[in-house]
Amino acid sequence: MRAIVAPSPGPPEALELREVPRPVPGPGEVLIRVAVAGVNPIDAKTRVGGGAAPFLQPGPASGDGDLAFPWIPGWDAAGTVAAVGPGVVRFGEGDRVFGMIGFPRTGGTYAEHVVAPVSHLSRSPRSLDDAATVALALPGLTAWQALVDAGGLETNQRVLVTAAAGGVGHLAVQIAVDLGAHVVAVASAAGLETLRATGAELRDRHDGDPLAGLEPFDLVVDGVGGAERARAAATLRPGGTIVTLPSASHGDPLGRDDVRAPRLLVAPDGLELQLLTGTVERGMLRPRVADRLPLADAAEAHRRIEAGGVHGKLVLDVG
Ligand SMILES: NC(=O)c1ccc[n+]([C@@H]2O[C@H](COP(=O)([O-])OP(=O)(O)OC[C@H]3O[C@@H](n4cnc5c(N)ncnc54)[C@H](OP(=O)(O)O)[C@@H]3O)[C@@H](O)[C@H]2O)c1
Repeated sequence: MRAIVAPSPGPPEALELREVPRPVPGPGEVLIRVAVAGVNPIDAKTRVGGGAAPFLQPGPASGDGDLAFPWIPGWDAAGTVAAVGPGVVRFGEGDRVFGMIGFPRTGGTYAEHVVAPVSHLSRSPRSLDDAATVALALPGLTAWQALVDAGGLETNQRVLVTAAAGGVGHLAVQIAVDLGAHVVAVASAAGLETLRATGAELRDRHDGDPLAGLEPFDLVVDGVGGAERARAAATLRPGGTIVTLPSASHGDPLGRDDVRAPRLLVAPDGLELQLLTGTVERGMLRPRVADRLPLADAAEAHRRIEAGGVHGKLVLDVG
């Protein structure tokens, strides 16, 4: 099968389109014919040897040794089931499925086929094509786990979302609104344009102090980190929660000792994705596809995700 391979940690240009062996599903696994793969910031961080690189395991592109590189990037896939392993009853051949596969171990979705445990998958929403569906995978799980699992969000609470127009942020805004929260979304003016229909209160991050004059928040989903972390934490009520998404910022100064700051690392969960699929089918969640590129342009996709300012989800057309 064709796959994008990073031979060793390096720049985007190092990504190569190669022929590699098609993987075979084992017990409890399915083989997916990938239609669309999602591109996430963690893909680029891992490509240079950071991000999830310490957790990678040998995959279909690896050599005989036990090194994670050569590595097939990608954890998000939407497509159809091409074959099922022994004992699989939840899905059958031809079913449309999607998921965040294997994270933070080797996923390998920048490829024509990928093997996934059924517990990492959901059926795809009928109302979305594969590109919009894949936008729900790692970003949707992150949004849900930040708001609900780590954040303990309750109806009528106040939520601040920064980097609100990004792959995770635009879903976190919509999910929090659907759960009955009052949401303030912070992004650039261009990013805010994509959030007009969400029902959130919108703040331009380049227009003075976007956090001035706001009532205290119960929960902050901080998609920026760094110096922004303490600024965002300052808006919390005592006992509130900040979930900082960039893991490299989990140790950045908070400036508060009266708030919770759980360190989220998103985890695969097919049932949570099935739940988000239901939210989509109710018309309360619309993932936004920022742009689509062919699989062979994975290097360009990495350059764009590294440059920042992507509004919604960048995806690779595979099949
Ligand atoms: N802990 C975890 O498990 C986990 C899971 C998923 C993602 N993450 C991390 O969370 C972060 C966001 O992920 P994502 O997929 O949403 O990224 P993304 O799609 O690249 O979006 C990031 C957004 O940040 C905004 N931005 C760029 N530079 C900024 C700056 N200097 N200050 C404030 N906002 C800025 C951009 O919008 P505007 O320019 O319009 O404001 C952009 O839309 C990444 O660092 C990612 O690695 C962590």
